[in-house]
Amino acid sequence: MVHRVIPLIAEAASWPVLPYAMGDEAGTLRDQLQRPLHDLRISVTDRCNFRCSYCMPKEVFGKDYPYLPHSALLNFEEIARLARLFVAQGVRKIRLTGGEPLLRKNIEVLVEQLAALRTPDGEPLDLTLTTNGSLLARKAASLKAAGLNRVTVSLDGLDDAVFRRMNDVDFPVADVLRGIEAAQRAGLGPLKVNMVVKRGTNEQEIVPMARHFRGTGVVLRFIEYMDVGATNGWRMREVMPSAEVVQHLSAELPLVALEPSAPGETAQRWGYADGAGEIGVISSVTQAFCHDCSRARLSTEGQLYLCLFASRGHDLRSLLRGGASDGQITQAIAGIWHNRSDRYSQLRGAGMLAPTEKRIEMSYIGG
Ligand code: GTP
Ligand code: 5AD
Ligand code: SF4
Ligand code: SF4
Repeated sequence: MVHRVIPLIAEAASWPVLPYAMGDEAGTLRDQLQRPLHDLRISVTDRCNFRCSYCMPKEVFGKDYPYLPHSALLNFEEIARLARLFVAQGVRKIRLTGGEPLLRKNIEVLVEQLAALRTPDGEPLDLTLTTNGSLLARKAASLKAAGLNRVTVSLDGLDDAVFRRMNDVDFPVADVLRGIEAAQRAGLGPLKVNMVVKRGTNEQEIVPMARHFRGTGVVLRFIEYMDVGATNGWRMREVMPSAEVVQHLSAELPLVALEPSAPGETAQRWGYADGAGEIGVISSVTQAFCHDCSRARLSTEGQLYLCLFASRGHDLRSLLRGGASDGQITQAIAGIWHNRSDRYSQLRGAGMLAPTEKRIEMSYIGG
């Protein structure tokens, strides 16, 4: 391993800067568990027009909730600058998230800036966005024109009453379905649909969702309800293990296991035995996938989080606003990633976690 000693960086940095490795011989930045940094998720707003009970329960996220003021948010130039520095360090995939990212004004302008980035090998990025679909019918064509590759839409059921109850703002399912169709027409594929399964709330929607999307090219993924954040009142009895989802579904629609399509993937893939496409299951509760987690998360206000369950981030905004050079920010990112050893789900699964301080919310950091 080649070690380079880095001098102290900008004064604005709020963490101790130690000598660290800038990458292995192949130039790949690795953390303490030898995991590369491939995937950057950028949250562009902490607001959302839905109030899904597993993410932004109404009782907590009410009228008086202290959302971030505009001045706290990274502006597009700041985000694009950080993204460029992350890409130079190995990031290949960028996902825009929220809250609801399509609520951020002129989001297409940011998409355009990110779509122009190239990897050190001159390749374009995999540029994608997670949305609740409510504004997608209106925005699909302009997002595609700005250079977005694909979208992932969150949708927890097809039954209008169930869906309205889950989003808790009485939003009709037909509008999200229209958004999905518009995204497909615009060429924002392969389109994925993420469904969080909560036992006792929407498990009856599993088969109808599968029937609706099979044969359409949409990849439907079932997500185990996670204990993320500190406000959703998570209970293990409301988690439906993926193994049960697969068993339940394959009794109606036979499935065959598929190989992973990339290392570090969140979903296990299954194909319909009759060739009508594939589904995925994301089992972060019953089968943690921390061992090859290559995801970093940048919050709306420029804090870098190394795990969805982290309680603290690393302040990149003060570096940006304190006048740090590209080299200094690059060194800071490399140092932070190098020191990373987070593997929350794995430790929780092994019963090795002590109670922690307050964790970040999903609406703050994005899926
Ligand atoms: P693709 O590139 O489209 O396959 O996306 P992805 O699966 O990497 O990302 P997506 O945002 O679609 O992830 C789906 C869901 O998986 C999220 O909404 C989370 O519920 C969960 N998830 C994603 N990343 C992580 C992670 O790093 N840890 C845990 N525990 N859950 C995650
Ligand atoms: N458990 C699992 N997934 C969640 N999401 C939000 N909260 C949770 C949770 N508690 C995911 C949803 C949504 C994305 C934005 O975040 O899948 O699609
Ligand atoms: Fe909004 Fe998505 Fe959270 Fe639902 S899961 S409240 S749509 S950010
Ligand atoms: Fe990665 Fe943390 Fe999720 Fe594990 S729990 S997969 S380390 S984000």
